Amino acid sequence: MSEMDERFWDELYGEREQLFSGNPNGVLVAEVRGLPPGRALDAGAGEGADAIWLARRGWRVTATDISRVALTRAAKAAAEAAVEVAWTHADLLAAPPDAGAYDLVSAQYLPIPHQPDHAAVRGLLAAVAPGGTLLFVHHDPAKQPEDWQGPDIGEFYQPREVAALLGDGWTIEADETRPRTAAAPPGTHHTRDTVLRARRR
Ligand SMILES: C[S@@+](CC[C@H](N)C(=O)[O-])C[C@H]1O[C@@H](n2cnc3c(N)ncnc32)[C@H](O)[C@@H]1O
Repeated sequence: MSEMDERFWDELYGEREQLFSGNPNGVLVAEVRGLPPGRALDAGAGEGADAIWLARRGWRVTATDISRVALTRAAKAAAEAAVEVAWTHADLLAAPPDAGAYDLVSAQYLPIPHQPDHAAVRGLLAAVAPGGTLLFVHHDPAKQPEDWQGPDIGEFYQPREVAALLGDGWTIEADETRPRTAAAPPGTHHTRDTVLRARRR
């Protein structure tokens, strides 16, 4: 398995002034637009576009990432947008977020390597408060671009695998593959998203 640790991500972000578009992810916008704002966790927030979009809509957002380079950029972008987000440095493989603390937990293209005890995924699920929503989105592993030089996407939890871990007490509102509505990040050419949206009863 590829080692995608803090150093990997800091170096990747460090290769460019900006890695991602600065726009919120299409699936986040489509799925969250209709939800009443509450407390949100953006897990693996990157350069912060999703967290800033949520904060602008009245969500109280905690945004975590393993990369301090990304978090510094995200905080600068939030200051420029005049919104408040709690930027938190965390390795979600090592420390779960606060249990039951969020009305929305969003993980967009977060690479969680498979674990025998599924601890990191279970930690994200546990962070969703009763009545809250989990939105777990990834690239479609069946359509990895021919020129994709990153790790095999199949190494990481897919939405369908997360759905299988939900158990009782959840309603699955979407579990599907969709075309991307926005261009993929530069140099990646992903065309389809896999999407899980589930609500804790
Ligand atoms: C593909 S990027 C996606 C960033 C953002 N969600 C977006 O859609 O633009 C994955 C992000 O997850 C972060 N990440 C990777 N492993 C992590 C971990 N174990 N804990 C927290 N963040 C992690 C990376 O630093 C990176 O910012």
